[in-house]
Amino acid sequence: MIDEQDIQRFLEDGAFTVDTPISTDRITAAAEALDRLLPQKDGRPRSGATCNYDDPALIDLIQDPFFEQVARHVLDSPAVYFFQTAIITAFPQPGVEFSFDQHVDTQYTLSDLDGSPRRLTCSFFLWLSDVAADQAPMMYRPGSHRPLAAHWETQTDLVDEIPRIIGIKLADLPDLNYAEPQPLLAKAGQVSVLTTGMVHGASVNTGDTPRKAMVITFHDVDVPVGLPEVQEVTKRKYDAMLRNILSPERRHIVRPS
Ligand SMILES: [Fe+2]
Repeated sequence: MIDEQDIQRFLEDGAFTVDTPISTDRITAAAEALDRLLPQKDGRPRSGATCNYDDPALIDLIQDPFFEQVARHVLDSPAVYFFQTAIITAFPQPGVEFSFDQHVDTQYTLSDLDGSPRRLTCSFFLWLSDVAADQAPMMYRPGSHRPLAAHWETQTDLVDEIPRIIGIKLADLPDLNYAEPQPLLAKAGQVSVLTTGMVHGASVNTGDTPRKAMVITFHDVDVPVGLPEVQEVTKRKYDAMLRNILSPERRHIVRPS
């Protein structure tokens, strides 16, 4: 499934990409669900949704044991809970020059990262289409989560607040020695397992086919991760819905109410 080298890449680079046991038919069904749920509106370059869908093709992926098992391994955790999910389509932008966003979505300390279990979320970016250099690859700065985690560790006023989900743009992050941005390339059906505590962001789709992805995140059952109030309310509603529709043998991945 994954090995120690993959774990080391997660810890050091912040991301690794592997094949999944998910069949082409299931990936295609999920990509078709995104076509239905995320039509392009007003020529906007991206369309997305978070924790508000129950399409069987997407629920089928959330509850696949692969993600739970890999999350346990990555987080060095005996048991994990589903945290959040999102779907995103990046549409082609013919003639637009390549550029990309840079931000982090979560804060944790080096002690959180190196602990057992690890006190952070494990994010799966499941690619529902190929991600070539001209298909809106995520751009990321390998290893940038580590100096940031060391920095957050020194911020004593954050002790009671983190780990937490919080969006911070590169311009508002401390000026540390980050690696240069790289594109994260993959094939449909592969998954990038990563921490959004590293500097990363969406790029322009300069090609001619939409890029589609599903994000699924997990955390250790005993490690609460703070969420902005609006996201917390949405997550609780979604957890309640999932408890009703997941297969009985898979419901344990959702925190009980
Ligand atoms: Fe992000």
